[in-house]
Amino acid sequence: MIILAIESSCDETACALVEDGRRVVSSVVASQIDEHKLYGGVVPEIAGRLHCECITNVVDEAVKKAKINISDIDAVAVTYAPGLIGALLVGVSFAKGLASALDKPLIPVHHIKGHIASNYIAYAELEPPYLCLVVSGGHTHIVEVKDYTDFNIIGRTIDDAAGEAYDKSARAMGFPYPGGIHIDKFARLGDSSKYKLPHPKTQGEFDFSFSGLKTSVINLIHKHRQNGDELDINSLCASFQETVTQILCDKFFSAAERLGYKKLAIAGGVAANSGLRELAKQRAALLDKELFLPPLNLCGDNAAMIGCQAYYEYLGGNTADSSLNAIATKKL
Ligand code: KG4
Ligand code: ZN
Repeated sequence: MIILAIESSCDETACALVEDGRRVVSSVVASQIDEHKLYGGVVPEIAGRLHCECITNVVDEAVKKAKINISDIDAVAVTYAPGLIGALLVGVSFAKGLASALDKPLIPVHHIKGHIASNYIAYAELEPPYLCLVVSGGHTHIVEVKDYTDFNIIGRTIDDAAGEAYDKSARAMGFPYPGGIHIDKFARLGDSSKYKLPHPKTQGEFDFSFSGLKTSVINLIHKHRQNGDELDINSLCASFQETVTQILCDKFFSAAERLGYKKLAIAGGVAANSGLRELAKQRAALLDKELFLPPLNLCGDNAAMIGCQAYYEYLGGNTADSSLNAIATKKL
């Protein structure tokens, strides 16, 4: 079964053709980052307009790359939630039109379920049940993946997402949007013990909180500026990265131990972080866990992961009709 999948929830317009949920036939991602960089973050209206401008070309290119006739696809899938409403609506409207014109089923996919599915593309042997840490720009969850379409969240951020904390701290340090990748790069050159940053406490044992950490970074930068002290940015990056990755791994691995999961996965944009990947591998080896990390090209937003999850949604009978709408906030 070949599914044509569309993703437009934030600042990437993407289309992929995926066979039987596991084989990516073609994948195209058009990033808007350069346009949003000017404003220090994603501007929702600009995102919607840019998706509108390029979605036809992105879909055409993905079909051309797959070397098939568009009428040969078996279904159309689309990210319908969560995300920026004006951005989601472009993908949803396009997918509805395409499914109707081709008379094919329409499969709505939750963006975070898509991120979780990204590991299925890289690892043919990965099957539920397992425990997944989802770390993106908008979400930080520890999720029990009980089955392909059956999820149970056991921990979540009570304020900022991990990627959001990275981007906001990076902005205060003077890096362009999105700053996560810059902190990651400069962290490798610094001394992680130079600046002490707080490990925030949460009521829920497996919940996260990153806004206090972000505020500490901002306050530390201001204090140095006011006192005229020189700030060692590389070491601040290293301290921040070590703090975030320790918080994420401490909670994730203790949840795995508590719930008895041997099989673990990480997904989402922040899964590309070199410090997180390294620490997670160390902990997994220490605790004898099997750890699945997505390849770097599948960490950030893409449509291949949507096409992958769509296959399992289809098998589970989760299709939509032409009344499908986009939803900005929706739980897993
Ligand atoms: O999953 P994603 O592409 O979009 C959302 O669904 O939010 O995640 C984007 C987030 C951004 O916050 C970005 O800064 C972060 O992932 N990110 C990183 C790295 N690469 C991307 N954060 C830390 N280290 C990285 N190497
Ligand atoms: Zn995402």
